[in-house]
Amino acid sequence: MEELQVGIIGLGNVGSGTLAILARNAEQIALKLGFRLKVAAVCSRSVESKQIPPELGDVMRTTDWREVVTHPDVQIVAELVGGTGAASEIIHAAIENRKSVVTANKEIMAACGPEIWDRAIRARINLAMEASVCGGIPIHAVLREGISGDRVTALYGILNGTCNYILTEMEKRGVSMADLVAESQRLGFAEADPSADIDGYDARSKLVLLAALAFGEKITPSDIFMEGIRRITPLDFQYARQLQHTIRLVCGARKTPEGLILFVRPALIPQSTILAGVQGAYNAVWVKGEFGEDTFYYGWGAGALPTGVAVVSDLMRVAREIRNGSPERVSPFAHERLGEYRPVPITLQRRAYYLRFRVEDRPGIIAKLAGILAGRNISLEAVLQEPCNTKHDLPFVITVEQTSEESIRGAVEEMAQLDFMREAPLALPMETAL
Ligand SMILES: NC(=O)c1ccc[n+]([C@@H]2O[C@H](COP(=O)([O-])OP(=O)(O)OC[C@H]3O[C@@H](n4cnc5c(N)ncnc54)[C@H](OP(=O)(O)O)[C@@H]3O)[C@@H](O)[C@H]2O)c1
Repeated sequence: MEELQVGIIGLGNVGSGTLAILARNAEQIALKLGFRLKVAAVCSRSVESKQIPPELGDVMRTTDWREVVTHPDVQIVAELVGGTGAASEIIHAAIENRKSVVTANKEIMAACGPEIWDRAIRARINLAMEASVCGGIPIHAVLREGISGDRVTALYGILNGTCNYILTEMEKRGVSMADLVAESQRLGFAEADPSADIDGYDARSKLVLLAALAFGEKITPSDIFMEGIRRITPLDFQYARQLQHTIRLVCGARKTPEGLILFVRPALIPQSTILAGVQGAYNAVWVKGEFGEDTFYYGWGAGALPTGVAVVSDLMRVAREIRNGSPERVSPFAHERLGEYRPVPITLQRRAYYLRFRVEDRPGIIAKLAGILAGRNISLEAVLQEPCNTKHDLPFVITVEQTSEESIRGAVEEMAQLDFMREAPLALPMETAL
């Protein structure tokens, strides 16, 4: 049987998962393609210590990625290194050498994916990035092909498995944020510096890519409103439960008359919605189309083998196109050209809000807060208070009816100045169904 040769750079979690699948599933892959995918070369800084599956046969091993991107027989290079340093050089060098590229790198693709695609078009090679968002969920293929006939109007995602693990464990066990971050680090879910996950940066890069695929806009990551989960406490889950809601880090993209509103933020979502059932390190994406209405995608957002499946499937798709000499490459962004995104301020968004306070208890507090809300035309919906003995640090919650983010921000700023406030109030939007 004929072969098409690939080179794998980066043999960490994703690289090792990719090699395992290419070795253990070689027969199925060949049956599907009609030819074999042969791993010609692998590279990592400590390549000598890596286990290369023996089924792969004779494989060139190197610590120098340049030997892979210039290898005369390699037609597709998989960049599975991560970060924006060497990975960026690898992608550019591969394109220069007219090798197609498969990457799992959300950071690079969110920061300059459209420019890389332009270079790929000029070099007449292909570029694929399924593994960059939601690891094992084939959400790029869905947006690029499966529902590309639809017009997406809104998309909600749970795109960061670490945050989802922390929030769902907090909900189940009532454990603090600090303890859950430490636990995620012990389990290998979170990095030593957990900021990329819990402050929302990782989810934001993924939303840039999904929004480009779904809406055809070229988005600068910093144009997306972003808030992490650091301020969420077990108590917030108790109040959310009373309101028949839960809390998730929601990545949202919604078409409005003003344009596309984008956000990454913790939000209350009704327990009755399908997103609320997404537990632990799972990811999910809920898409609403103008014609096809709701579709929902769920699975592992990370992990060696689920992400490896995405990389191998990309290798197969690109290999097929190379083998068929297809000049009609589909853009990895699902649009021939992306439009320029004009940021729409989140302050225009209207939602009901959950406001959580910690105060030094004294008479007249509710009246004071209600006065501030009334002064901004915000209608109070409910006041909730769990039993609590500590008068000097008393938590309670107020929910308000739909209002603009601008009004709620103004109210929260004013409330934060009150002398009985222990900390600035926490304001979370209450999302409805899509
Ligand atoms: N982990 C996941 O579940 C997951 C899910 C979706 C997407 N991704 C993305 O997949 C990519 C890889 O992630 P990962 O978790 O597999 O990372 P990782 O475990 O840290 O592996 C990175 C690999 O790259 C190698 N490497 C680093 N710098 C290199 C250089 N200059 N030259 C050659 N090799 C180099 C490392 O070599 P040594 O081992 O020899 O140091 C290591 O083998 C990232 O873009 C990540 O965002 C990961």
